[in-house]
Amino acid sequence: MYKHLYSKFLQGHEGKLHLAAHSHHFWPDVSLTGHMRYWEVASTLSDHKWDEILGAELLKGQNHIAEILKLSNPKQIAFAPNTHELLTRLLSCFLEQKKLKVLTTKSEFHSFSRQINRLKEFPEVEVVELDNELENFPEILLQNITDDLDLIFISQVFFNSGRILPSALINQIIQKKNLSTIFVLDGYHGFCAVPTDLSAFEKDIFYLAGGYKYAQAGEGMCFMSIPENCQLRPVYTGWFASFTTLSSSTKEVQYAEDGFRFWGATQDLSALFRFNAVWDEFKKLGLTVDTIHTYVQSLQKEFIKIVPAAQCDLERQGHFLFMEFASVDETKKAYEDLLKAGIITDYRGRRLRFGFGMYQDEQDLKRFKIVNF
Ligand SMILES: Cc1ncc(COP(=O)(O)O)c(C=O)c1O
Repeated sequence: MYKHLYSKFLQGHEGKLHLAAHSHHFWPDVSLTGHMRYWEVASTLSDHKWDEILGAELLKGQNHIAEILKLSNPKQIAFAPNTHELLTRLLSCFLEQKKLKVLTTKSEFHSFSRQINRLKEFPEVEVVELDNELENFPEILLQNITDDLDLIFISQVFFNSGRILPSALINQIIQKKNLSTIFVLDGYHGFCAVPTDLSAFEKDIFYLAGGYKYAQAGEGMCFMSIPENCQLRPVYTGWFASFTTLSSSTKEVQYAEDGFRFWGATQDLSALFRFNAVWDEFKKLGLTVDTIHTYVQSLQKEFIKIVPAAQCDLERQGHFLFMEFASVDETKKAYEDLLKAGIITDYRGRRLRFGFGMYQDEQDLKRFKIVNF
């Protein structure tokens, strides 16, 4: 139904079934037009290309993101090459403090857990890491929201299970936390996959996501929405954070009043052009995150009929399913056997993950019948 939109990546994977749309999503053909436009802008405008990139193109990207997430002020969205950079910039806001206390879960992305584990080696840093898979996780989470917390960092959709953090719980976290506690919602597995309405939360959360998964734009474009009137002054800062204050002669380092205060420095924004080309095209075709989600859920329902072990509550699930094996070795073997059969998946620990997208159809899933799990 939608496969024609991905003809180039499908050609590039002829004979294979890419069931890892949750990992690196295929790029629609039209992304190439966006990519080429970046080159054209560079070749015709050279140094002045930044007026175009950080002008009309940036605003277009911010508008797409704001529309997808129902954010009221697109200018509060800051960009960086990866989410790790944005996370580090946020963490740098705490450098002036004597201590740092973080509340998080055991299921956050690798760069986060690695970074926070390294920081934990300092006696001033305390990290409370909760098991998000416990039945009573919501209660435990709320109990752990204390006044001395500096940062809460939680995924919107967990990378190892695909489970969605319910909006009601996000709301409860906001109600319970201190105003000064920074709440980051890591939306990388939710953005452009799960219909998301941040309008009620935008003043209270930092939403983090990026381009190479369901946004279908490839690597190089991550973003964070910053609450309006945020006065944080990241210590890790680059010259893009103060365009509006470049000529200021005050001693204190100045920051932009909008999302630019969280930018770094010169970066390759070709992924922004790809992202805009893709979501311009989807808009023209009437394809929204809701449409994509409904389609993906229909594939997931079919897949569960073929692989019952991947069964779960689809209403609480992002765009991948998983199947758990008894050991990591068994999981790895299943992954490798599938790969030999031309079926591309991936795994995290004992969980084999299957990710769905518009470049697959029901017929493709029948290939799974050959597998005897
Ligand atoms: C939940 C989550 N957040 C963020 C990222 C991306 O991290 P980075 O942009 O720092 O490479 C990933 C990548 O898989 C992820 O799963």
